Amino acid sequence: MDNNTLIQKAVEAKKNAHPPYSNFHVGAALLTEDDKIYTGCNVENSTFGLTLCAERTAIFKAMSEGERKFKAIAIASDSPDYITPCGACRQIISDHCGEIDIICTNAKGEYKIFKTSELLPHAFGDKDLNK
Ligand code: THU
Repeated sequence: MDNNTLIQKAVEAKKNAHPPYSNFHVGAALLTEDDKIYTGCNVENSTFGLTLCAERTAIFKAMSEGERKFKAIAIASDSPDYITPCGACRQIISDHCGEIDIICTNAKGEYKIFKTSELLPHAFGDKDLNK
């Protein structure tokens, strides 16, 4: 699976975004170990704090279908800047996806790839529990 195919899926997923408060549309496409793609978009809520980001939507969709191993996630928005996941999504990616490629795009479709540990160094995880 090439990066541009995954990015294109994230751009398509952005069309379903529901951001009536921020008007910031985001799409994500998550690639499983066996090359299946699960997409997500941001879904905002009138109580703001219950908003779900595109990345978490995609990850929870995939996990609820039984997927557990992932290789990459692409993220798309309409911003001229490269979009990187928020802090909450970095923790979720770290916990559930491990050390994957996080493909951060800008509105022109250019991208930068980061590893999970670059965006969330020294992460808390299941290794820290039950000691
Ligand atoms: N958002 C995402 O969906 N993913 C990101 O990586 C950054 C932010 C959403 C949350 C909210 O609906 C809107 O973008 C503005 O923060």
